Amino acid sequence: MLFAKLVDIYQQAGFAIRSSISPFMLKSISNVSHEDGTFTYIVKDGANYGAHGGGISMSEVYLIDSLASVFKPTTVFGIGCSFGWSSVALTLANPAAKVVAIDIAEGTSAPGLDLTNEVAKRHGLNLKALIGRSPEDVPAIVERELGGRIDLVFIDADHTDTAQYADFRAVAPYCHPSTVYLFHDVYICQTTASFKRIAAEMVTHDGLVLTRTASGIGALIPKSAPAELRASIAAFADPFCVVPL
Ligand SMILES: C[S@@+](CC[C@H](N)C(=O)[O-])C[C@H]1O[C@@H](n2cnc3c(N)ncnc32)[C@H](O)[C@@H]1O
Repeated sequence: MLFAKLVDIYQQAGFAIRSSISPFMLKSISNVSHEDGTFTYIVKDGANYGAHGGGISMSEVYLIDSLASVFKPTTVFGIGCSFGWSSVALTLANPAAKVVAIDIAEGTSAPGLDLTNEVAKRHGLNLKALIGRSPEDVPAIVERELGGRIDLVFIDADHTDTAQYADFRAVAPYCHPSTVYLFHDVYICQTTASFKRIAAEMVTHDGLVLTRTASGIGALIPKSAPAELRASIAAFADPFCVVPL
């Protein structure tokens, strides 16, 4: 029900939602926010709150749901909040966790952060959306808000190799061998080079590009993960579409 709950929450806030349209139903493929059908956008009074960054797709919400059935983080950190779609999903899926997401709050991400906090308040979610820039603001925020420990991290901010690697280095000191890392857009934004580097450095984790997710999420799965936790993530990588790392 996670996707349905998300839709309901944003509809209750007065938004129309465009999300996860089959590519077969689109005239062309585009990742321009007013044309993209793959990811999630919310619109009210003609304003698209995802213009500075769309939300994750249904397949990626399902990944969060799948993971949450077997993995119980107490702290979750997100880099790149936009209007809160993935942050709200992570919070609904992990009700025992404290979730903190940061964003530089440029363009529509500024009202997006306010909306995220309003939604969290209205629905009693343990979620805080904060203005913050990765990598420089990460240490202070993680120490203050999460006691310096991250069990699950969702990185979805500036999609360049340099920025993705910097985001990883910023969170890594607060993670541990059992932390699960998810990097959105690795395949679609072609940040596979930095993901490959990250995966090679992480001797405690296995790297996998999840080709059954809409963006090709990069996952770092703890080597110590029980079989069911590994399966809840690995099911999203297609054996006919392996991205070599
Ligand atoms: C694709 S959107 C995030 C979408 C969100 N994760 C979701 O699925 O609902 C990317 C966001 O990253 C933010 N961003 C870009 N660079 C950043 C940085 N260095 N630190 C924090 N946020 C950043 C942008 O403002 C934008 O809102």
